[in-house]
Amino acid sequence: LLGDTSYPAGSLVLEAGCGVGAKTITLASRNPGARFVCTDISAESLAKAKEHNLDNVTFQQADIFAMPFPAAMFDHVFVCHVLEHLTDPVAALRKLRPVLKPGGTITVIEGDHGSCYWHPETLASQTVWQCLIRAQARLGGDSLIGRRLFPLLTEAGFADVRVSPRAVYCDASRQDWVDGFVRKTIIAMVEGVKTQSLELGLTDEQTWRQGIDDLNQVADRSDGTFNYMFFKAVAER
Ligand SMILES: C[S@@+](CC[C@H](N)C(=O)[O-])C[C@H]1O[C@@H](n2cnc3c(N)ncnc32)[C@H](O)[C@@H]1O
Repeated sequence: LLGDTSYPAGSLVLEAGCGVGAKTITLASRNPGARFVCTDISAESLAKAKEHNLDNVTFQQADIFAMPFPAAMFDHVFVCHVLEHLTDPVAALRKLRPVLKPGGTITVIEGDHGSCYWHPETLASQTVWQCLIRAQARLGGDSLIGRRLFPLLTEAGFADVRVSPRAVYCDASRQDWVDGFVRKTIIAMVEGVKTQSLELGLTDEQTWRQGIDDLNQVADRSDGTFNYMFFKAVAER
């Protein structure tokens, strides 16, 4: 996802919603000549992000909807897996646009849970996956936002919006991906909404257990396969 993102030496980059710094580590280490200001609304996440001790990064607590930076301060803005959690992603993008210099670029990366399919696909595994989508929607987010990057950025006033889909495909011949993506990302994410899904009545305990077992089978079986699509957009102020 980050392989084709590079920032020239001397550029100043804002990473909005950096979380615990998972993407910051890669961006900052691959672009040692650029300087990064990485913000998040969560002080707890920022404290963890700071532990990476990155020389070219400054961390700062800030809400995307109340950016504490002067106009035209940054050469580039980077936002990854943040818009999906916001009730008004266009408003967030409109807040980010003015802090970019004229001609500066924004990079936005989001997933789209509607793009996900796997083999063997059972009714229970589909049910728990739908729980994840519906639980996030109840919180005001949109886990299907990847497909909307073009209209969102356009509506927010960005120019020259280019979106590229990024497919992830895993099978038993790619055990590192099966482990890192299917088990530790996808299944962990679904398991994270168990309480909420049961409380909201999105499914019952037995279907939940069966669905999680079935998803684990996709990772464990020699004939299991898994597909997911991310979307990456680059646009100009
Ligand atoms: C799923 S994490 C993504 C973290 C990081 N970008 C990554 O890709 O690993 C979403 C982050 O957005 C942050 N966030 C949510 N709403 C925000 C807001 N209004 N302003 C700034 N950060 C926000 C959360 O605190 C969280 O750290």
